[in-house]
Amino acid sequence: MPIATTTTTATKVEEATQGIATLKLRSPAAGEGEKAGEEGYRYAHLLPHFSPDHYPPLTPFEHVDPGHRALALPNPRAFLDSAASVVELTPHLGTEVTGINLAELDSSGRDQLALEVARRGLVVFRDQQDFIDRGPDFYREWGSHFGRLHIHPTSGHPVGYPEIHLVYRDLKSTFNFEYEDSITSTLWHSDVSYELQPPGLATFFLLAQPQSGGDTLFTSQVATLKRLSPQFVAFLRTLKAVHSGVEQALFSRAGKRGGIVRREPVEHVHPIVRRHPVTGEEALYVNRQFTRRIVGLKREESETILRFLYDHVDKSADNQARVKWRPNTVVLWDNRVTAHSAIVDFKETGEARHGARITPQAERPIPALEGLDLSS
Ligand SMILES: [Fe+2]
Repeated sequence: MPIATTTTTATKVEEATQGIATLKLRSPAAGEGEKAGEEGYRYAHLLPHFSPDHYPPLTPFEHVDPGHRALALPNPRAFLDSAASVVELTPHLGTEVTGINLAELDSSGRDQLALEVARRGLVVFRDQQDFIDRGPDFYREWGSHFGRLHIHPTSGHPVGYPEIHLVYRDLKSTFNFEYEDSITSTLWHSDVSYELQPPGLATFFLLAQPQSGGDTLFTSQVATLKRLSPQFVAFLRTLKAVHSGVEQALFSRAGKRGGIVRREPVEHVHPIVRRHPVTGEEALYVNRQFTRRIVGLKREESETILRFLYDHVDKSADNQARVKWRPNTVVLWDNRVTAHSAIVDFKETGEARHGARITPQAERPIPALEGLDLSS
């Protein structure tokens, strides 16, 4: 018996060792083993370029949400029928899908996708090398289906494609500012919420990633709101807050993050509780990065309520999901009903994290309280 046990153990060890060796020797797929800072980098054409252009202010436009069209279909989730797996990450938000090639979705499939992302807040698609390798012309065409593409005022973009927002961090990057004056890199936000018509559905993927770390956190602002008492929510529905892009522009004007401001920063007033135009769900719409004050309240009142809401978002792990990136993962989220935070835990390794975001704008936030005056 002892011999048999030894043999079995030896076999197991050998198998396990072979498994590790196989893992290490596997030929890399796109993004895997890619070194963004090195010669021959597969996605060098998508590295951030900080053009010194200057853009006029954004103009209002009418947004027609593609999710509306999906609602009229007999089965608005038919695009998932051919999936190999559809798994909920958490009850409140997040679904992970395998076996679907996003790049091949037709117009109706894209409408259904928009509705599904609105419903689930966050949808993670694995094995999307085709999508990623189609390149920036495709990214632009893809995003335009969901709304007018946002051009970021300060971020880097691929040469000739200002609509593609790039994130890039490595050891030398001036983006690594998080720990200079903060104990954490966690910063919950909804993207560019200072715009009059902030983004709805966002598509994001990594082109190079660290071996470990660089995950992204998401939280459901619908669930966040539902935790609060009905009386408090009723009060929040009467409130609006100022969202500001000024600090982000000042950061760039200080010479960091490419040092370019292509559009003068703006501030806009949005309802603190917004209603999703398709699902009708109410979500909390304030974030520590861009919200500055509640209109009409005394300074201490505004600060106290905002801090309470930010703390609630920070500590509610029971509303959150964490995306662990693997090569060829494409993630979509609905900025109207979720917040997210990067996790910058890989700085010391010197590895690069390089990603691209396609960011269609949506409607001006709809107040949950009908008739709420947003003029100031
Ligand atoms: Fe973001």
